[in-house]
Amino acid sequence: MKNNLIHPLWPILIGEFHNPNHQKIKKDLIEFFEQYENEHKTSRKGNENFDLFESEYFLHKEKNDVLTKLLSFMAESFMTMASKINKEELDKAENKNPKLTVKFNNSWFIRYNKGGVVVPHDHGGGSMSCVYYVQIGDEPDVNDINNSHNGSTYFMRPYGRGTSHQDFGGIRYNKGASFFKAEEGKMLIWPSFIMHGSKPYLGKENRIVVSANIDVDIAK
Ligand SMILES: [Fe+2]
Repeated sequence: MKNNLIHPLWPILIGEFHNPNHQKIKKDLIEFFEQYENEHKTSRKGNENFDLFESEYFLHKEKNDVLTKLLSFMAESFMTMASKINKEELDKAENKNPKLTVKFNNSWFIRYNKGGVVVPHDHGGGSMSCVYYVQIGDEPDVNDINNSHNGSTYFMRPYGRGTSHQDFGGIRYNKGASFFKAEEGKMLIWPSFIMHGSKPYLGKENRIVVSANIDVDIAK
């Protein structure tokens, strides 16, 4: 007799990576972003976000040593993510440990003022997207009712709401957004199509993050 099975079809995999050298590069990164902002003055336009400065989408084309260090860490993390989530494919391949390449299609930084918020959106500019927390700022008064998930990144479930039921059988598919706390040196990686955003950031010190859309390929 065959075993009964429950197939985990299309799970969404979110990577969490930590940069062991973050404290060594943080100060220089912030200086670089301050310099960038002084030179560009106005935030990138054409979005619905509030109380923040966004750089242009091609940060990876800037020539800067500390930025290169950050992008290297990000590229390594993307390659690890790609290898792990596609392990089944690699197991079937002749070369089980191929050299991978990462192509940055877009990269940018965001500096949140107090009250800064990013509304739900998806990217679609590559197979994977990320956020890297350069400086998380500070937590507001813990008694503040709005303090919950201060500036946290959230991901929205990819299921249609209309077909979900509220019974026990449907609980798994009725969960709301999943929140990830901001931590310095932490990088979250997700498939670019997932809707996501950030809750309002209520700290006083600026919060700074770097995001990117990339493709990972097997080197020819
Ligand atoms: Fe985003």
